[in-house]
Amino acid sequence: MAVSIKTPAEIERMRVAGRLAAEVLEMIAPHMEAGITTAELDRICHDYMVHVQHAIPAPLNYRGFPKSICTSINQVVCHGIPSAQRALKSGDIINMDITVIKDGFHGDTSMMFGIGKVAEHAERLMRIARECLYQAIALVRPGCRLGDIGHIIQQHAEGNYYSVVREYCGHGIGRQFHEDPQVLHYGQPGTGLVLEEGMVFTIEPMINAGKHHTRLKPDGWTVETRDGRLSAQWEHTVAVTATGVEVLTARLDENLP
Ligand code: MF3
Ligand code: CO
Ligand code: CO
Repeated sequence: MAVSIKTPAEIERMRVAGRLAAEVLEMIAPHMEAGITTAELDRICHDYMVHVQHAIPAPLNYRGFPKSICTSINQVVCHGIPSAQRALKSGDIINMDITVIKDGFHGDTSMMFGIGKVAEHAERLMRIARECLYQAIALVRPGCRLGDIGHIIQQHAEGNYYSVVREYCGHGIGRQFHEDPQVLHYGQPGTGLVLEEGMVFTIEPMINAGKHHTRLKPDGWTVETRDGRLSAQWEHTVAVTATGVEVLTARLDENLP
């Protein structure tokens, strides 16, 4: 699949989808407390996307995924399946990953929440992972290369004694959930695809407290750290503009370019 260049009219439609995905995270934030199950979070988000936003939850039935959002707690790297057996408890860190389809286009974004009283080292991991995403976004402009983006994420993570997950990456996005290019979160500066105005993709670094290796659980979806240590991830959908970047999934409380 070639890397598609979106027209201004398509980017306007992706702006709408991106805003809706961000609004799901804004809506769910006050529910992120000890005692709620991830199945309840899934239901609240599902009902909001379907009945309030009149949008489609992209994960539901995507390659057989059984729920409408991904909920990845503590050592879970990504693609955690919401469950009625798993209530949030004080000290948990959780990634909420939301993807909506509106008017034929996808918006994909995720963020971390700390539940109750979270250990200092876990707060630090979440913060550094967010900084990895923000530093990468700040580089995006025509002429920047994907290797530059991967490199800055890797440098910030490893410079803080963390590691970068290799098996999963960001992706082009549009009419399809996952399009070309693959956006690796590690790499060499000055290498890889040269960004052009009209490209739209996600950046979604998964940063591990320990080693980078992952393991797929027998459910076929849940990805965990192999060493059982914590992992944190933040994701935005971004468009390359003539002069820089537009973050299509920005939340109101974020200070972004
Ligand atoms: N939202 C994830 C991403 O950032 C993909 C989830 S695929 C699913 O690319 F099937 F697990 F939902
Ligand atoms: Co994504
Ligand atoms: Co996502």
